[in-house]
Amino acid sequence: MPNPFSVPPRGQEPEAIDHPDTHAEVLREAMRGVKRLNRRLGYHRYLVSQLERHLPRGFGGSLNVLDVATGLADIPEALALWGRRRHISVQAVGLDLNPRILAMAQEETREVPEIELVEGDALAMPFPDGSFDVVTTHLALHHFPEDRIVPLLRSMDRVLRPGGLMLVGDLVRSRANIVLVDAACALWGTPAALADGKISIRNAYSRAEFEAFIRDSGLSYLDFARPGYPTQVLLAGRKP
Ligand SMILES: C[S@@+](CC[C@H](N)C(=O)[O-])C[C@H]1O[C@@H](n2cnc3c(N)ncnc32)[C@H](O)[C@@H]1O
Repeated sequence: MPNPFSVPPRGQEPEAIDHPDTHAEVLREAMRGVKRLNRRLGYHRYLVSQLERHLPRGFGGSLNVLDVATGLADIPEALALWGRRRHISVQAVGLDLNPRILAMAQEETREVPEIELVEGDALAMPFPDGSFDVVTTHLALHHFPEDRIVPLLRSMDRVLRPGGLMLVGDLVRSRANIVLVDAACALWGTPAALADGKISIRNAYSRAEFEAFIRDSGLSYLDFARPGYPTQVLLAGRKP
């Protein structure tokens, strides 16, 4: 029997959400499944707790947040709602490459005027250097080929202001996590999210690959934070 903590080779199969011609209903169902999994696994609460940990005690100012590869913008939404509860003025930009997904995000976040949705490529973002206090991304790295991860991290670093906080979350590939993610998607995902979820964990990067990305990007302020759930990795740090 293979060691459950060993790491199988990385998959390369594209997900349905990556195909430009995926039927609108399948795309919607897959993206809603991702949002539901984020909620079920407590990712939004966890992200807020990470933010709280890094903010000065009693912080009451404003925060300018960028969520890269935002999907249905549930992460900017969670941060905007947290800001309302904490009397912190959060302005959140959700950037995504896919205009069809952004149109769905627009519908889903109609009641949240703090969010601005922007179409663009994470590797060539239309923002000036140092424009955000917080830059996040979640469940996105595994959509990028290995040789694009360092450029992606540097692109996120470019738009983060000195002293700002970077939070990079994704799945981490191992034999044990493949079993766990398949089970979580079957329990809580939609059928389309189950199909994409199975591909996602196989396309995800391993812990050793994440270590190499930090080293090769030169972003030594990024470190492994305690993840919110076992199948996840979270790189976090304040830019010097
Ligand atoms: C699995 S979804 C994650 C959505 C969201 N971050 C979440 O956690 O629910 C991956 C997203 O990455 C987006 N994406 C893929 N490549 C991208 C790129 N080069 N630039 C911006 N967004 C990209 C896709 O359009 C998709 O919305």
